[in-house]
Amino acid sequence: MHKRKTVAGIKGMKKAGEKITMLTAYDAAMAAMLAEADVDVLLVGDSLGMVVLGYDSTVPVTMDEMIHHASAVRRGAPAAFVVGDMPFGSYQSGKRDAILNGGRFLKEAGCDAVKLEGGLEVCTTVTALVQAGIAVIGHIGLTPQTATQLGGYKVQGRDVESAHKLVEEARALEKAGAFALVLECLPDELGRILTEEISIPTIGIGAGVHCDGQVLVTHDLLGMFDTFIPSFVKSYCKLAPTIKDAVAEYNREVRSGTYPDKEHSFSSESNLRELLGS
Ligand code: KIV
Repeated sequence: MHKRKTVAGIKGMKKAGEKITMLTAYDAAMAAMLAEADVDVLLVGDSLGMVVLGYDSTVPVTMDEMIHHASAVRRGAPAAFVVGDMPFGSYQSGKRDAILNGGRFLKEAGCDAVKLEGGLEVCTTVTALVQAGIAVIGHIGLTPQTATQLGGYKVQGRDVESAHKLVEEARALEKAGAFALVLECLPDELGRILTEEISIPTIGIGAGVHCDGQVLVTHDLLGMFDTFIPSFVKSYCKLAPTIKDAVAEYNREVRSGTYPDKEHSFSSESNLRELLGS
């Protein structure tokens, strides 16, 4: 088992020039595999909604759904650093709701920290959470919960004005007490600038190689979708065709009566039929 990470340890990785790996997890089995593979941080992302629950955006995901899955991740990976993603509507209504919901991730699901999307508008909430004892990761750039306001799922910070705004937001979130910052879908040069501008680690997703760490949706990394795959995603294997082939073979064997064979069946007294008198 790998040693459990801490907030200080994760911040220290930036100072030591060690890259941080973060991946999403939504269930115990996957969390156990990722932890065994020595992933630094497991994110129970609200991407849960699209990846696992079949919603067409992250907006409908509820706190109860997040807690349900974050608890499973914690049970699967007892020693991992687990981050719960605050879903849409769980923190926008004020500091009190943010603390109550952020607190649920720690108390009910055993998370180590929470993540929330937004820039200047969430800074007072971030401070309130940190003062309440809840460690926070910020998330700027493309923020999927408000993607429609950003003109859809597209690269942010391409012009000077929006790049400048992102620099301001990164500085403000650091000052507000966030201990790390997710940067989503930015030009890699802006990823480099933001990483140099702040002393807390940046964790990029589509934000280039200069970030202090990287995060991906695990199902994307494993090639479990063969429909839409964002261009920044590298699929390290292609599980979708492997799974479909395995299931097709199972279908064939069940339908032809070749599964289960002797090797996959339990034996009994050879004269069981006689003994039962049937
Ligand atoms: O919900 C999620 O999976 C995320 C990551 C993609 C950063 O927020």
